[in-house]
Amino acid sequence: MTGQRRLASRPTVNPNRKDATMKLKARSGLRWMLLAAVVLAAPAPSGRDDATAAAMRRKLKYADRLLSGLVTQDFGRLEGNAVKLVELSGGSGWLARQTPEYALFLTEFQRAAGELVTAAKAKDVEGANAANGQLTTSCVACHKYIRGDASKP
Ligand code: HEC
Repeated sequence: MTGQRRLASRPTVNPNRKDATMKLKARSGLRWMLLAAVVLAAPAPSGRDDATAAAMRRKLKYADRLLSGLVTQDFGRLEGNAVKLVELSGGSGWLARQTPEYALFLTEFQRAAGELVTAAKAKDVEGANAANGQLTTSCVACHKYIRGDASKP
């Protein structure tokens, strides 16, 4: 019977509560809008703009295909995707930092990708495997640098 009493008491409690909830929602909605305005107005931290994010996601796609090309010894796939990575890395989406260190990481990435192209052309599995390893190492190294740099005050 307590359940019924609870149900019966609902209508008297709910209208006020609903009202309060709506006010709260409206207020938090405004807060979100303000927050969004602040976030949008603030200059995007370097490396987090849309062009970079899009380039980076494509990079992951090509890198994934490199691995599948490598394990299936599909040299055409290897070469094609390594070339795409080299091309992509020349775009402005990759210029996330203007530091000599960043330039070095980028150069190392391009070098490894270039080596992968050469190895794929020569149908050299060992060479391609080594170059792919260096490429992955360069991904991790640059990301490590970016994280460390971003966490600085
Ligand atoms: C020369 C530097 C550099 C190299 C090399 C590099 N990245 Fe990145 N990567 C970045 C930067 C800069 C970002 C953006 C980080 C940020 O949002 O602050 C990023 C972000 C990403 C992201 C996240 C994208 C998103 O949606 O936010 C992925 C995935 C990624 N990289 C994959 C890779 C892979 C795979 C490789 C190697 C094949 C690689 N990266 C090599 C600089 C690099």
